[in-house]
Amino acid sequence: MVAGIGSCLPSRCVTNAELERTMDTSDAWIRARTGIAQRYVADDGTRTSDLAVGAAERALKSARLTPDAIDAVIVATTTPDRPCPATAPTVAARLGAGPITAFDVAAVCSGFLYGLATASGLIASGAAERVLVIGAETFSRILNPEDRSTSVIFGDGAGAVVLRAGEADETGALGPLRLGSDGTGVDLITVPAGGPPRPGETAPADSADRYFTMEGKRVFWLAVQRMGECAASVLDRAGWQLEDVDWLVSHQANHRITARLADEIGIPRQRSVGNIAEVGNTAAASIPLALDHAHAQGTIRPGDRILLTAFGGGLTWGAAALTWPAIDPV
Ligand code: COA
Repeated sequence: MVAGIGSCLPSRCVTNAELERTMDTSDAWIRARTGIAQRYVADDGTRTSDLAVGAAERALKSARLTPDAIDAVIVATTTPDRPCPATAPTVAARLGAGPITAFDVAAVCSGFLYGLATASGLIASGAAERVLVIGAETFSRILNPEDRSTSVIFGDGAGAVVLRAGEADETGALGPLRLGSDGTGVDLITVPAGGPPRPGETAPADSADRYFTMEGKRVFWLAVQRMGECAASVLDRAGWQLEDVDWLVSHQANHRITARLADEIGIPRQRSVGNIAEVGNTAAASIPLALDHAHAQGTIRPGDRILLTAFGGGLTWGAAALTWPAIDPV
């Protein structure tokens, strides 16, 4: 069950007006097509692990736990500090959590739900009792400043939850969770180069290949379809009717995607809660950031039934049922 939550944003806020000055775009286009008004961008000295540690410290505080009470740290990220090793051991060490299990999960914007599933498995197997699941990104580092279709959408940030062993009927219980992938869509959301040389590669990769690319239109409809199907399957497994769902918290990809998704599932749009206007699309950090903000604002309350769903590169997707716990905002 969820025992604590926290988030962390870099200090620099970049408004649409600021982007208007540096690229061929407009505040009106960005708001109308994505719902985004601003996003946060890490400065050169800030790494993904810095944001992850900030979010994790707040999550521990809200769970009223010290770092030594944690058995494992999972960091879901698309933008690790380094290609090798994983970022999670750095985070665990900086938290002072001791020589515990620590590893990353790579599922792009679905990463947080993949992390939650992995943490649940660690707990169910007895390998851990309390796990920090962190979604953290410095996505701005992989954006192509020449590509206005991606540069206006993504932002940096981190969100974290403490997951602990508990009973299925406890407030805060994580219910059924489903994940999926379709690797035939690998090229739709990708950073084509930047790791080891690709097979047959003789010359250095074209520099544009080192940036994130996305086929926005195709991704839009696949996101609605896959999140819709997965969410319906989780509802079914949880035995929840549509009217039982207090809040839909979906990956903050684009306000038009979240609205269409609510229609697709059959949940009134006003029961879809999010913060894309304030933070943009923060990839793996998106769901815990949205949950933390909604919790801090008092929108989601103890006992509320929440349907989570995400979609991202891979392609990957997932959905989960969660009953909101009684925890302190930090
Ligand atoms: N500012 C102004 N114009 C822009 C722009 C920007 N930032 N980005 C693209 N445009 C232009 C395009 O060049 C195009 O111009 P043209 O008609 O002259 O060729 C026009 O806007 C429409 O582009 P299109 O790509 O068809 O727009 P769209 O309505 O599909 O919106 C996205 C683009 C990226 C916002 C949208 O496809 C989207 O959100 N997709 C889902 C992406 C997502 O959320 N991914 C995350 C899932 S993990």
